[in-house]
Amino acid sequence: MSMNQAANYNADVLEARKPQYGVDPMFVNRWSTRAFEPYTLSEEELYRILEAGQYAPSANNVQPWRFYLASTAEQKELFLSFIVPRNQVWSKNASAYILLASDTLNAEGKEHGKHAFDTGAAWQAMALQAHLMGLATRAMGGFDGAAAKEKLSMPQQFQPQIVIAIGKPGSLDQLDESFHSTNKPTPRKPLDQLIMSYEVK
Ligand SMILES: Cc1cc2nc3c(=O)[nH]c(=O)nc-3n(C[C@H](O)[C@H](O)[C@H](O)COP(=O)(O)O)c2cc1C
Repeated sequence: MSMNQAANYNADVLEARKPQYGVDPMFVNRWSTRAFEPYTLSEEELYRILEAGQYAPSANNVQPWRFYLASTAEQKELFLSFIVPRNQVWSKNASAYILLASDTLNAEGKEHGKHAFDTGAAWQAMALQAHLMGLATRAMGGFDGAAAKEKLSMPQQFQPQIVIAIGKPGSLDQLDESFHSTNKPTPRKPLDQLIMSYEVK
């Protein structure tokens, strides 16, 4: 049995992705659909996803990630007001949004140089947790951060990073046609382009 069969990768992702070393299927099978079916996310589900972010590692354990949630129609409407139009088209069908912001200062009020890096770790953890629950996430950098900051009354020291759309993966007929051709698992650069050689001097 090849490593891929043993690892249980989904056939649809294997068209674009070629894992060779037995990486856990959750990393390969997760992908960011834009198609969502109508689904009410329970508070427990939402909080389980947030809890995954809570346990991300961070420099000096500063934990700079902060979550702004939108799950009611009213809250989603507010979030849609600062999401760029192209992202509104598909993300309005998601069950909930999480705006992931980072606190740029540590507890002593000093600049936390790794705030964005650490918050990226929280995003990845949440995306994988949602995937393990049969849900899908898609991150959006396409939103007006200044407007979000104002509308959500964020402290000055916070930096909005991404808005995450979460929902039940849907079929193409639930997605605007302009996105159909790109709504599939994306490929990855081969490892040999990522591992850099260097000279020991
Ligand atoms: C920081 C960040 C910003 C992104 N911004 C957008 C966005 O504004 N709109 C969108 O449709 N997808 C956005 N994406 C989704 C990426 O395009 C997607 O994750 C990437 O193509 C890899 O595909 P996969 O997540 O399916 O593996 C963003 C992803 C990240 C991590």
